Amino acid sequence: MPFTPTLGAQCVAASECAATLTSCVDNPECGPWLACLTACGDAACADDCDETFGDARRLLPAVYTCLCEARECTALGACGKSSCVASEPPPLLTEAPLTLAETGLYSLPDVYSYTPEFPLWSDGLEKERLVFVPGCATIDTSDMDEWKFPVGTRLWKTFAQSGVAIETRLTHRYGPGPADWLYAAYQWDPLAPGDASKATWTGGAVVPDANGTGHDIPGNGNCKQCHDGRKERSLGFSAIQLSHEARGADLSLGRISRLGWLTVPAPEDFRVPGNDVQRAALGYLHGNCGGCHDQDGKLPDPESPMVLRLRVAQTDYAQTDAVRTTVGVPVRSGLPALAGKDRIDPETPEASGILVRLHARGIEGLQMPPYNSNSTKQPDVHGGIAAVTAWVSSLTP
Ligand code: HEC
Ligand code: HEC
Repeated sequence: MPFTPTLGAQCVAASECAATLTSCVDNPECGPWLACLTACGDAACADDCDETFGDARRLLPAVYTCLCEARECTALGACGKSSCVASEPPPLLTEAPLTLAETGLYSLPDVYSYTPEFPLWSDGLEKERLVFVPGCATIDTSDMDEWKFPVGTRLWKTFAQSGVAIETRLTHRYGPGPADWLYAAYQWDPLAPGDASKATWTGGAVVPDANGTGHDIPGNGNCKQCHDGRKERSLGFSAIQLSHEARGADLSLGRISRLGWLTVPAPEDFRVPGNDVQRAALGYLHGNCGGCHDQDGKLPDPESPMVLRLRVAQTDYAQTDAVRTTVGVPVRSGLPALAGKDRIDPETPEASGILVRLHARGIEGLQMPPYNSNSTKQPDVHGGIAAVTAWVSSLTP
């Protein structure tokens, strides 16, 4: 019997979409869908492929739009698929729902996990982060250092001790305005571990020593002190923080680029510049401090800003703002504990203002970040403090 190509194969062969098809095949998020489509004999099968490879939905319109120009593709339903299709997005939340379950982290489709490379130190608690970007929406990455999230975006972060969840935080963009972000924290019920319907909204107040763990759930004012410094509110879902090899099913910068989430894709990671010691220290300061100490240059004062936030274009270690505004630069602060010190002092590493403030966790007015959410207030001696100390010591002449 002569071999008859499938309808899908005929459509693909008849089209003049070589470039579009090649870029789909070369994209591991698109290629499997195209293979599925090529094997199809009718439009229902094509619909099934679209659904099976739903993660790729943002990539399909470009391919279908091109295929539709070939007559052979009509029977496959290629025409009429020139825009992305997703299930109805959940309603926007202008107020915090009363239970965590109602925020959708376990019920919405398309909720993905991710882990920033340089997390915020939270007294050694375990953390898990999730993100939801509505079905076909994209993140405006025309400024790679300040992603603009689409309306409907939700981000969650859960804090746990020995595997038992204590609290989950939510940030949610509910409108197009720059301040249209909701902040909420949910306290888990120690008697119902794992039951998000029993994890309830704190009402925005601080909850000290939540569930007897020594962990304080911050109030809404605290959320803002740390998050409002960024135009786009998100501190850890960003180009630099996602530029590392992802664990398990976690998203990475490369993956969300390939999935079509970004208006300007960035399939290659941005590497924090420097050797391993320099990278570890600059990355830590970026993740823990850069949300406030940023290029706006207001902190501690505009005369001599201290900028710990990294930018993707600053690829030369010695030219990063973090190096230029700290090493051998005197502090501006009038605090007695910092008097006469340099921010980073290669001659006497332990006298560096930055290290003094990292060690001062729990000493109000001196500790950095100025607001933390843990009543145990353990300095990050084995992590960030060790990394920054190793870096400063490596500068010692
Ligand atoms: C001490 C500063 C600080 C405070 C206070 C704080 N956050 Fe964050 N938050 C961060 C940093 C830094 C990150 C990114 C690094 C990480 O996830 O470890 C982050 C991450 C998050 C994330 C994950 C998405 C993202 O932006 O990266 C959510 C959700 C979140 N915070 C919500 C809240 C809410 C809600 C509150 C108040 C109840 C709050 N945060 C209080 C600093 C803070
Ligand atoms: C929530 C915003 C915020 C975060 C996050 C933050 N800072 Fe600050 N920082 C400030 C403010 C406000 C000042 C000025 C007032 C003061 O010195 O207390 C400051 C001042 C400083 C100074 C004094 C600089 C000088 O020249 O006077 C140092 C050093 C410093 N911070 C280190 C850090 C480090 C290290 C981190 C991260 C571990 C960090 N900060 C995170 C808000 C922040």
